[in-house]
Amino acid sequence: MASCRVCRGELREFLDLGQQPVSDAFLEPDELDNEFFFHLQVAICGSCTMVQLVEEVPRERMFHNAYPYLSSGSAGMREHFERTARQFLATELTGPDPFIVELGCNDGVMLRTIGEADVKHLGVEPSGGVASLARAQGLRVRTAFFEESTAAEILDDEQAADVIYGANTICHIPYLGSVLRGVDTLLKPGGVFVFEDPCFGDIVAQTSFDQIYDEHFYFFTATSVRALAHRFGFELVGVERLPVHGGEIRYSLARKGERTPAPAVAELLSEEESRALGEVATCRAFADDVQHIREDLVDMVRDLRDRGRTVVGYGATAKSATVTNFCGIGPDLVPFICDSTPAKQGKLAPGSHIPVRPPEAFAESRPDYALLFAWNHAGEITAKERDFRDGGGRWIKYVPQVYVD
Ligand code: SAH
Ligand code: TYD
Ligand code: ZN
Repeated sequence: MASCRVCRGELREFLDLGQQPVSDAFLEPDELDNEFFFHLQVAICGSCTMVQLVEEVPRERMFHNAYPYLSSGSAGMREHFERTARQFLATELTGPDPFIVELGCNDGVMLRTIGEADVKHLGVEPSGGVASLARAQGLRVRTAFFEESTAAEILDDEQAADVIYGANTICHIPYLGSVLRGVDTLLKPGGVFVFEDPCFGDIVAQTSFDQIYDEHFYFFTATSVRALAHRFGFELVGVERLPVHGGEIRYSLARKGERTPAPAVAELLSEEESRALGEVATCRAFADDVQHIREDLVDMVRDLRDRGRTVVGYGATAKSATVTNFCGIGPDLVPFICDSTPAKQGKLAPGSHIPVRPPEAFAESRPDYALLFAWNHAGEITAKERDFRDGGGRWIKYVPQVYVD
């Protein structure tokens, strides 16, 4: 019986998404023979309610020099992170020697604004390629996985931090105990640890099961984050809903007794309780909904193919690996996926081996339908591809249910 990665409590498995590849491991045609797969199963802890994967993929398999994901690839996300940086500059970085550390800074999408304001910063980013892109903009980045030892090294080399921030990164880190001890080492007295990740409540409400893949090891709720915080001497003092990536929550943690929790914390905790989000029965109902989405999506795409319609994919997201591999969607149903990321183009998507092509291929091939894998960027993409719809093309969406738009 597997046990909780946070508290060693008993795990209750509720969703099996089968054998899955590393979601950002796009392949050259000669690499197909050695592809790595793991068992993607999700469980909830019977003690602390933390939702988590059962199997952990070794971190070096996911985050390395060739990690292809670029945070600056969406205009909406660039704006979101510029706003975030301005908020930190105005509220938390106003003291005599301000210092912000960002975990998983990727290509520098957030730190860019901090650097422009001439405020001391450090990115901690294990993926060497994206870290170099941040450095090329004059940002200070350490190529490392953040954990307890990294925090001690940073404290030695630099100074204590006012803010430690991580976007779409803390949920990627199985060894959270080491991370929280590291935060305790590195944070100034009165400092704040802020992180934002997909909201499990929204995943359940929208049946957005494609948020589940190797990199997303944890699915946080305010309830499970509060338990995590307490275990390491912290308190959950703030929660904020964010409209990005299909619904996220920004959590703020401070050392116990240092800050007064905002009223929004108690409100969200009680909402989660009334929705029974910490209960395995709720998770099992979600798993049933996932099976229905799979059936509906496969039926629709097969039916279109059988009627001679063309369907291509839009956005070679990490999320799309879960959808294609769980639903058995390969190049016979979706001949290619277009994506703006240079490092994905010309390669084959993990597991499904669907070719990835640049966005220009979309207009050129004039498909009848486009399966929107990057549904979290729907507004931006459909605006960019207005000609597709004006010319009679239709979008296939599968969140919160399967429909044509
Ligand atoms: N913050 C960006 C990037 C998210 S992708 C955004 O929100 O768009 C997740 C990033 O976390 C990757 O760049 C990955 O290399 C990094 N990462 C993974 N494990 C990490 C760790 N232990 N410490 C710091 N960064 C880590
Ligand atoms: P995203 O949904 O942010 O993340 P994940 O991989 O974690 O699921 O990925 C968006 C993908 O869609 C990324 O590969 C870039 C691509 N994309 C486009 O091709 N065109 C666009 O206009 C946008 C916004 C994204
Ligand atoms: Zn637990």
